Amino acid sequence: MEPVKIGLLGLGTVGGGTVTVLTRNAREIARRAGRGIEIARAAARDYRPEQIEGLDQIGHISDDAFAVVDDPTVQIVVELIGGYSPAFELVMRAIDNGKHVVTANKALIAKHGNEIFAAARAKGVMIGFEAAVAGGIPIIKALREGLAANHIEWIAGIINGTGNFILTEMRDKGRPFTDVLNEAQALGYAEADPTFDVEGIDAAHKLTILGSLAFGIPLQFERCFMEGISRIDAQDVANAAELGYRIKHLGIARRSANGIELRVHPTLIPERRLLANVDGVMNAVLVKGDAVGPTLYYGAGAGALPTASAVIADLVDVTRALTTDPSNRVPHLAFQPDELADTPV
Ligand code: HSE
Repeated sequence: MEPVKIGLLGLGTVGGGTVTVLTRNAREIARRAGRGIEIARAAARDYRPEQIEGLDQIGHISDDAFAVVDDPTVQIVVELIGGYSPAFELVMRAIDNGKHVVTANKALIAKHGNEIFAAARAKGVMIGFEAAVAGGIPIIKALREGLAANHIEWIAGIINGTGNFILTEMRDKGRPFTDVLNEAQALGYAEADPTFDVEGIDAAHKLTILGSLAFGIPLQFERCFMEGISRIDAQDVANAAELGYRIKHLGIARRSANGIELRVHPTLIPERRLLANVDGVMNAVLVKGDAVGPTLYYGAGAGALPTASAVIADLVDVTRALTTDPSNRVPHLAFQPDELADTPV
């Protein structure tokens, strides 16, 4: 079968990681998706070619993002430029052109998701956004599919890797806030505007998405309470440790008597609790469902390859759904039956 053709917007941390993983694991990804995934075209302004494996596999690279979404050969547009604009205009145009969209952009989904999903429904196209929340953790899939039977009672989690990295380094190594933030930027964890990380905006974007999925409510970013970690200093971290607590920045979504509560803020957690021991760039999300009880999802919350892992999971899903064979939509096995490796176990 012909490979599915994708158009990639952005070759930064996540875009570069996506090209790298698509190249490294091309065979396995194709076997899971039922066909190959070819990057027909990409648009990027600044990127570091030496950090991307497989750049030579991309059909055409320019700085014209609209040329990608208007390319008639592109079936899936992968938006990895981040931010509200021009990402919103590009995604709306891609949908209007009948293309499926995969995005890692939590700001875009939290703020414009209601409009984007309505346009996608009207056009009959799919939107994948697994990479928008908690990096490589498949939390969107867990809420939408794995926990579909449940009445969700609450969600609580560490959903900003940069903030958690800063708090961990301040506590373990006594490093100054700004020093660790600079390192998080160099490592590709932080947002283009790092105030999004340290003022709780990024976590609020993600919690808005989780709340909508969990409770079946529209995306209402503007109603999420938000406080970041920028006012926490070394003394606060030391005081908490002395009392047997750790400071963690949490996102909490829960049903209350007055409706749904969405809030992100620093929290004191007793040091023996699970979430208190989630360190560095790792994220963890606890979800309580009425049938399943509490469940926990843990993994890298930021970074090139973990986020690429989630982007490609969506690409595999969309590619599978584009095949006409209904048995492929909920795959019997991870790999296509005629592609199972003949390796003895
Ligand atoms: N800046 C984000 C974080 C990236 O640190 O969690 C992943 O969404």
